[in-house]
Amino acid sequence: MDDPSSAVLTVQEIPLSDDSMSGCIALATINRPNKLNALNSEVMDSLKNFCSWVEANDRVRCVVITGASPLPAEEGRRAKPNAFVAGADIAEFVDMDKQAAKVKFTDNAVEALWKLTKPTIAMVDGFALGGGCEVACSCDIRIASKRSKFGTPEINLGLIPGYGATQRLAKLIGYGKTLELIMTGEMISADEASNIGLVNHVCEVEDLEDFTMDMANKIASKSVFTLKVAKRTIKAALNNSLDEGIAIEAEEFANLFDSADKQEGVKAFMDRSKPTWQDK
Ligand code: COA
Repeated sequence: MDDPSSAVLTVQEIPLSDDSMSGCIALATINRPNKLNALNSEVMDSLKNFCSWVEANDRVRCVVITGASPLPAEEGRRAKPNAFVAGADIAEFVDMDKQAAKVKFTDNAVEALWKLTKPTIAMVDGFALGGGCEVACSCDIRIASKRSKFGTPEINLGLIPGYGATQRLAKLIGYGKTLELIMTGEMISADEASNIGLVNHVCEVEDLEDFTMDMANKIASKSVFTLKVAKRTIKAALNNSLDEGIAIEAEEFANLFDSADKQEGVKAFMDRSKPTWQDK
């Protein structure tokens, strides 16, 4: 498939730090810094295209999503703040009616991101509001700089979240905190986001990229095949009862015993060598 980069989404294939392994980490940067990387239709189309590319590209072992840094301030104007994504593009809401909203928000790019079978990390530096918080919640892991702020301010527009926060955020941080965030529309700091389980790790700004890429490399060094099984088994907990989930785990776990990478991983442990994954 063609290069998935566009004017509003820069995609880089970052080689793995372990150069004995082939493959890459796909780093996708949402690139509308003058609009705080707000999700307009072009960004959403690009993100969807990116997700298809990730699934089809065997080289990609892990995905990192981030937002572009602010451009230098224009003469006589203040610099724009740092943002991961400051939400859906509100300018597109002006003339949007119910029918148009249904089309735009059904089967959208945030769902595509959520459905990716490969591991995903959101690297957040700055505002992660509304749709930005929802993009982050659609990733498997969230890593934020100390100066980041999270929130779901849609209530201030007479709206509720439309990219999954009423459901996915609630699964992540619980019913009570989700109600508070959505009903007050208030922003919270990265440290508070970490305290309530919205963020996995908080870093100093200067450490954010190294910390995130270290984690991405760690994950990318595992079998992509086994990672996919782990991801879908853990996500089964969201849609099933405990007993059903345990039954799903038992099935997935047993199936792995016939996989090439279980043979490889166990053999490598016994031989005290490094496994060479076949991703199957
Ligand atoms: N949609 C469209 N444009 C947005 C945007 C969004 N969600 N968020 C920010 N922008 C634009 C602003 O209109 C402004 O554009 P301009 O310079 O061409 O006028 C630019 O990004 C910078 O934003 P600005 O508001 O000037 O920055 P600030 O530092 O004063 O405030 C925020 C930062 C994040 C507090 C503020 O931009 C904001 O509240 N954004 C909307 C957040 C939101 O409601 N998200 C949910 C949407 S459903």
